[in-house]
Amino acid sequence: MRAFRATLILIPLLALQNSCAATVSPADCDATEPFAGKVLDVINKGRGHGYLFQLLRVADAHVDQAESAAVYYLVLDVKESDCSVLSRKHWDDCEPALSKRVPEIVIGQCKVIATQCLNDSQHFRVNDYNCTTSSVSSALTNTKDSPVLLDFLEETELYRELANKALEKYKRENGDFAAFRVDRVERVVRARGGERTKYYMDFSVRNCSRSHHFPRHHNALGFCRADLSYDVEVSDLETPEHIAINCEVFNFEPLPGM
Ligand SMILES: *[C@@H]1O[C@H](CO)[C@@H](O)[C@H](O)[C@H]1NC(C)=O
Ligand SMILES: *[C@@H]1O[C@H](CO)[C@@H](O)[C@H](O)[C@H]1NC(C)=O
Ligand SMILES: *[C@@H]1O[C@H](CO)[C@@H](O)[C@H](O)[C@H]1NC(C)=O
Repeated sequence: MRAFRATLILIPLLALQNSCAATVSPADCDATEPFAGKVLDVINKGRGHGYLFQLLRVADAHVDQAESAAVYYLVLDVKESDCSVLSRKHWDDCEPALSKRVPEIVIGQCKVIATQCLNDSQHFRVNDYNCTTSSVSSALTNTKDSPVLLDFLEETELYRELANKALEKYKRENGDFAAFRVDRVERVVRARGGERTKYYMDFSVRNCSRSHHFPRHHNALGFCRADLSYDVEVSDLETPEHIAINCEVFNFEPLPGM
């Protein structure tokens, strides 16, 4: 289980606590959903790695209503999309990949405290959040009849060398990626069955070029998806028979703290 936590702008709640004697009351989950959707977008945009969370449902909602602001305590059921947070997309704009390599695997829950100003519904803050995720175990996705066994490999950093190898191939074919390095290995799935063993890998990359002519691109981040294929007989991970890789680059200003 992985946990993400951030304390964003902590607004002074003292005034609220003084004016009302902590009258936290249950709120209607469905009615809170549009607000929860905006809150989740803010959470996604503040994250530095991983995949965009998509809102499945509001599992619990409580509200502490005062004169000028409402403080929401939300529990959001989320699932991990296939879009990197680096894409900075809204979670609703992350289309399911055309050819999904593996079935949906990661679900999670976010506990959020968010304050909405009552004078202006567009004006809100995410005070604090804590999201935890867990992979749906291989046992659930692998049934007796499935020809391919999927292993979701949790210790992704152990496969950094494989990511390097795939990126090297991409660099040979794409000159402007010469200065890129692997940043984080985000997902590694091994598929066994039939005549091939495949590793499906996602990793973020960073443009480490020191060129001063293009300061805008300095440290630009990207995201790569690589499929490495092995003959079943082969036990040496270092020598994939075939590598297919595709990368995209996001030229945004770096997020604070990255
Ligand atoms: C609502 O209140 C906030 C905080 O007091 C203020 O910054 C904002 O300008 C107000 N918005 C409107 C539309 O009055
Ligand atoms: C986040 O929530 C999980 C589950 O409730 C908890 O185990 C974990 O300690 C929390 N993390 C932080 C930093 O509060
Ligand atoms: C990486 O940065 C260099 C120098 O800033 C730039 O010339 C190159 O195009 C960048 N590569 C990509 C793929 O954006």
